[in-house]
Amino acid sequence: MEKNGTDPILKVQDLRTYFKMAEGTVKAVDGISFELHPNEVLGIVGETGSGKSVTVKSIMRLIYPPGEIVDGKVLFKTDEFSKGDPEYIDILKLNEEEMTRIRGRHISMVFQDPMTSLNPIFTIRDQMIETITFHRNVDEAEAERIAIDMLDKVGIPDPRKRLNDYPFQLSGGQRQRVVIAIALSCNPEILIADEPTTALDVTIQAQILELMKDLQREFRTSIIFITHDLAIIAEMADKVMVMYGGKAVEFGNVIDIFENPIHPYTNALLKCLPRVDVKIRDLEPIPGQPPVMLNAPPLCPFLPRCPIRIERCEKEYPEMVEMEEKHYVRCFKEALSDGGE
Ligand SMILES: Nc1ncnc2c1ncn2[C@@H]1O[C@H](COP(=O)(O)OP(=O)(O)O)[C@@H](O)[C@H]1O
Ligand SMILES: [Mg+2]
Repeated sequence: MEKNGTDPILKVQDLRTYFKMAEGTVKAVDGISFELHPNEVLGIVGETGSGKSVTVKSIMRLIYPPGEIVDGKVLFKTDEFSKGDPEYIDILKLNEEEMTRIRGRHISMVFQDPMTSLNPIFTIRDQMIETITFHRNVDEAEAERIAIDMLDKVGIPDPRKRLNDYPFQLSGGQRQRVVIAIALSCNPEILIADEPTTALDVTIQAQILELMKDLQREFRTSIIFITHDLAIIAEMADKVMVMYGGKAVEFGNVIDIFENPIHPYTNALLKCLPRVDVKIRDLEPIPGQPPVMLNAPPLCPFLPRCPIRIERCEKEYPEMVEMEEKHYVRCFKEALSDGGE
C-alpha cells in the first residue's frame, strides 16, 4: 500500500543513541529502523520517555553530551552533495558545515514549544529572511515576498504587517504557525514535527493539524509526526511506528495498527484512547510502572507490564517479525497466541 513505488527518501538503520551517566547508561534509542517514502506521513507514537524526541534529534544531529549516537545509519537521498543524480548519504557521517546544508533546507523541524525555534529579540521578518536567504539563492526583496506568501499560507492575517512583530506579540497558535512557515519556506523534502500542538489548547490544536495536512498535500512533503496521542496519529499518519522504552514494538499502515493492533503495548495504548463520552481524566492508565531506562536488561521493555508474557520473554529479546503483510511486531508468536493464560 505504498503511496508510490519510489525509493525511500530516508532510511534509518539500527539507530542507537545512549546517554552515558555516572549512574549508568540510558539506552534512549536502542536499535530503531524505519523507512520514510516521498509524500508519506509517518507517525511515531509512545508514552513520554519512550525515545521519540531522541530519535528525531539524532536524525537532525542535535544530540549533545552526555548523549551520543553510538551506532546506526541515517541514509538520506539527496543531490545536495552529488550535484546530479540523488544518492544516499549517511547523515551521521556529515561534518557540521555539511549538516547546516541539510538542516532547514532539506530536513526541517518543528518543536513542541515554538519559542525553541524563534528568537525573542528579532522580528519575524529578520528570522524568516535569514533562513530563506541562507538556503535559497534569492535577494532580500524576493525573500520577503516568499516570507509573506508563506505567512499567508499558514493562515496569518495581514502577513506584511505581522513581519514587523516580535514573537511575544503573537499568540501561541500564531507563533507555531510562523514556525511552520519558516520550516516550510525552503520547501524541504522532510518535515519533522515533534508534538507540534501539545502546548496549544484543543481548538487551536485542531486548526494547526488541519493546516499541516493541507500544507502536506500542497507541498507533498514527507512528514515524521511525533505525538503521545493516538487520536492525532489516526488523523495525520499513513504509517505508524509505536515506540516503547527506546525500541520500536510495532510498525505498520495506520489502518492495520488501529483495526488490528497486535503488540500488547499498542493494545494498551488503544484502550487509553478517549471516546467522545469519556473525559480525559477518567481514562484508565496502563497498569504498572513505565520502563526502567537506566541499565535496562536486554529484554522486551514492556515485559514488567505485559499481560501476555511467557517464560521465553525472561530470557530472550524478540526480533521484529512481519506478522502480516507490511505489519511488523516485536513480540514472540507463542506469547501472542497463548500468553497470559
Ligand atoms: N539530556 C538527557 N540526559 C539524560 N537522559 C536523557 C536526556 N534526554 C533524554 N534522555 C533519556 O532518554 C529517554 C527518551 O527521551 P525522549 O526521546 O525525550 O522521550 P519522548 O518519547 O518523550 O520524546 C528519556 O526517558 C530519558 O531517560
Ligand atoms: Mg519528546
